[in-house]
Amino acid sequence: EVHPVPLQSVVPDAGDPIVVGFSQLGSESKWREANTASIVEAAKEAGIQLHLQNAEQSQKRQFAAIRSFVAQQVDVIVIAPVIQTGWDAILQEVKQAGIPVIMLDRAVEVTDSSLYVTLIGPDFYEEGVKAAKYVIDKMRNHEGPVRIAELAGTVGSTPSIDRGRGFRDTIASQTDLVIAQSMPADFTTTQGEVVMSQFLSGPKEQWPDVLFAHNDDMAIGALKAIEQAGLKPGEDIIIVSVDGTRKAFEQMVAGKINAVVECNPLLGPQLVQAVSEIMAGRMLPKRMVPPEDIFTQEMAASELESRKY
Ligand code: AHR
Repeated sequence: EVHPVPLQSVVPDAGDPIVVGFSQLGSESKWREANTASIVEAAKEAGIQLHLQNAEQSQKRQFAAIRSFVAQQVDVIVIAPVIQTGWDAILQEVKQAGIPVIMLDRAVEVTDSSLYVTLIGPDFYEEGVKAAKYVIDKMRNHEGPVRIAELAGTVGSTPSIDRGRGFRDTIASQTDLVIAQSMPADFTTTQGEVVMSQFLSGPKEQWPDVLFAHNDDMAIGALKAIEQAGLKPGEDIIIVSVDGTRKAFEQMVAGKINAVVECNPLLGPQLVQAVSEIMAGRMLPKRMVPPEDIFTQEMAASELESRKY
C-alpha cells in the first residue's frame, strides 16, 4: 500500500537543510537510548537539522512537542508514540499545517490512515509469537502445567499489546501452558525487579516456571528478585525477553537468560532514507519493518561482540 505525500511540503528551497521535528517518547530502556542515538547519528550524517524532544512517557508532552514543530514549520514530523490511542485530533492539526508525519517504532490507532505517511517499526506481534514458540519448545518435556509469569511493558503501548497477543495466540493450543501471573512493569529495570518480587511473594507452588519479559531491561531487573528468592535464573525459572541488548547477551552468556527475541532499535538510517524520499516527492510503503532474529544461550557468546546496543 502506498500513500501520496502532501505536495505543499515537498519542495524545500535549494540549499536549505531539511528540518525534522522528532518527538521521542522517553528514555526508559537501553533500547530507547540506542534508538535515539541511531536517529541523532543518521540525521547528522545526512545533514538533516533535527529538533528532538523527549516526552518522558507523557502523551501530553508529545502533543506539546508536535505543536511546537508545527509552529516552527519543520519539513517532516517524526513521532515515536508512547501509547496507541488518542492521536486523531493532533494528527489532524498537523495535516492542516501540510506537514508530513512519519510514525516510528510504535503504532497509532487512527480512523484516517492518511494522517501519517508511513510507519517504520518492528513487528511486535511476531516478536510475541517467537517468544512463545521458544517457550513451547523449551518446555516440551516439562511435566504437568507450566506456569508462566509475564512482565508486560507500558500499558496501552503497541509493543506491550502486540507482544502479549502474539504470545497468547501462539500458546492457545497448548493446554499445559498457563499465564499464571501478568503485570505491567513499564519497560524499566527498576519495575522489573519490583514486580518480579511480587510474583515470588506467594507460596512456592505458585512460583512461575517461565518468565516472559516484554523487554530486556525488565528481565534484568527480575534476575535480582529471582536470586533474592534463592532461585537460579535460567535454570529454576526459564527466562525469555525481547530487544537483544548487549546487557541481555551478557546475561545469556552467564546462563541467566535463556533466549532473547530481537527488536531492532537502529532505525536511524531507514528513517533518514524515508525523510529524503518524502522531500523528493516520492511514494513510500505504508509500513516498513526492520529484519529481526531470535537468539538463544548457545549463540550468545559468538554474537556478543557484534551487538551494537
Ligand atoms: O517500543 C519498543 C520497546 O520500547 C522496546 O522493546 C522497549 O525496550 C522500549 O522501551
